[in-house]
Amino acid sequence: MKFRAAELADLPFLLEIQSEWPALPQWGADGFKKEIGGLPRSYLAVLEDASALLGFGGLWIIPPEAQVTTLAIARARSRRGWGRRLLRHLIDEAVRRGARTVTLEAAADNQPALGLYGSEGFRIVGRRPKLYNGVVDAILMELDCQR
Ligand SMILES: CC(C)(COP(=O)(O)OP(=O)(O)OC[C@H]1O[C@@H](n2cnc3c(N)ncnc32)[C@H](O)[C@@H]1OP(=O)(O)O)[C@@H](O)C(=O)NCCC(=O)NCCS
Repeated sequence: MKFRAAELADLPFLLEIQSEWPALPQWGADGFKKEIGGLPRSYLAVLEDASALLGFGGLWIIPPEAQVTTLAIARARSRRGWGRRLLRHLIDEAVRRGARTVTLEAAADNQPALGLYGSEGFRIVGRRPKLYNGVVDAILMELDCQR
């Protein structure tokens, strides 16, 4: 199992994993290409084992802040600790690049994501009503990396 920066060759697998989670904002090929294309403030990581991509996660880093832009684990590989490891990898990378806080946003009905973020120390700092499809609130969370 290893983490590495996503490459264009990963695109079909990124799109496939994303399509397994229809509630996740769908970036499309162009969205992924922008993040892979080396925007200086972007980092798109993949987690892979010998046989396949297990998931991906993204960051925008503008020190002293970083934002988790996306996070997903292949549905067949979920609930085995990979999402937590990927999130920790993103946090480590954000800190390495100068972030002191990491923010993110999750749908209020996304219990798996909210459970993961809460258990990694993210605290709720705001709420955007009906942001998703005009129905579901967005929960804003923040991690203080200096603690
Ligand atoms: C959220 C996600 C990345 C978690 O990845 P994962 O590898 O399945 O999660 P892990 O096995 O690392 O579990 C970490 C924690 O997440 C929470 N969690 C994960 N799956 C859960 C589920 N089905 N139900 C409830 N809690 C869940 C739990 O708190 C869990 O900790 P625990 O095992 O000690 O109870 C994954 O469910 C996913 O890809 N979801 C779809 C995309 C998405 O919603 N991304 C987040 C956008 S904000």
